[in-house]
Amino acid sequence: MKDEDGDGAANIDDVKLFLKRNKAARKALKDDGEYSGGDFRSAECVALLKEADIVVTNPPFSLFRDYVAQLVAHGKKFLIIANKNAITYKEVFPLIKDNKLWMGITAFSGGMWFVADYMGKYEKVVDGVKLINVPAIWFTNLDHGRRHQKLPLMTMAENLKFSKHKEVKGKAAYDMYDNYDAIEVPFTDAIPSDYDGAMGVPITFLDKYNPEQFEILGITDRDNNSGLKTKEYTLIDTPNAGDLNRRGAILFGGDLKSTFARILIRHRRAKPAMRKKK
Ligand SMILES: C[S@@+](CC[C@H](N)C(=O)[O-])C[C@H]1O[C@@H](n2cnc3c(N)ncnc32)[C@H](O)[C@@H]1O
Repeated sequence: MKDEDGDGAANIDDVKLFLKRNKAARKALKDDGEYSGGDFRSAECVALLKEADIVVTNPPFSLFRDYVAQLVAHGKKFLIIANKNAITYKEVFPLIKDNKLWMGITAFSGGMWFVADYMGKYEKVVDGVKLINVPAIWFTNLDHGRRHQKLPLMTMAENLKFSKHKEVKGKAAYDMYDNYDAIEVPFTDAIPSDYDGAMGVPITFLDKYNPEQFEILGITDRDNNSGLKTKEYTLIDTPNAGDLNRRGAILFGGDLKSTFARILIRHRRAKPAMRKKK
């Protein structure tokens, strides 16, 4: 895009102005026999994608899996809006685990506000514009500073003594899962700095994830993607076997209780430096 309005930058305003000035330059995108014109899977759109250096968009959530697969297959740099649920998709989580996709810098909490004029419902009005909150986050493979910041943490003993969370403070020890070889860490800021084994942390950990500080091992799910699952329950063991097999289970008041989905992580420790022989 050229700098149509001469303000020194080529941006969306120039696109608008170009289209206004050059009505004849508009042409409908073609159907390719399989996909309709403008569908991101159609031949013409794929050809346009190949030309792009960076893709920035808000893809349809219903086709999110296909959309991400296409970007990855074409080796594109991207910054896209995703629903938080997409983190746990089988097609997406392995990319996060392998550091091929991560979160943008906008915080998880609070979601994103979208203009809701066409939706018929809205949650607040700012400067006369109706807005609706969507549990959305940025997914990207563009590097940024936040993912190189180290999360400050206390030791396990300090957490048990001083944590601001009543679920951690005063406990004798962190809970160990009954069905995973890992400890349950119910809050990201309660990750013990001195524990070398696997730890199950909330999905919101990804907001603070620094791949130099932590390694992602998997996610608590039906399959054993982490290799840390130690047990499959049957209905003979417990009537809530189905629930327990989907997640990490911890003993609570004598009963096994399913936790929320957890990301299984481990501290990345610097290898001890080799001592030089004198
Ligand atoms: C979440 S909306 C974002 C819209 C736009 N980025 C905006 O901010 O107004 C997703 C858009 O993808 C379009 N869409 C749905 N299926 C599509 C497909 N197969 N190929 C291309 N676009 C599609 C929808 O019509 C919708 O406009």
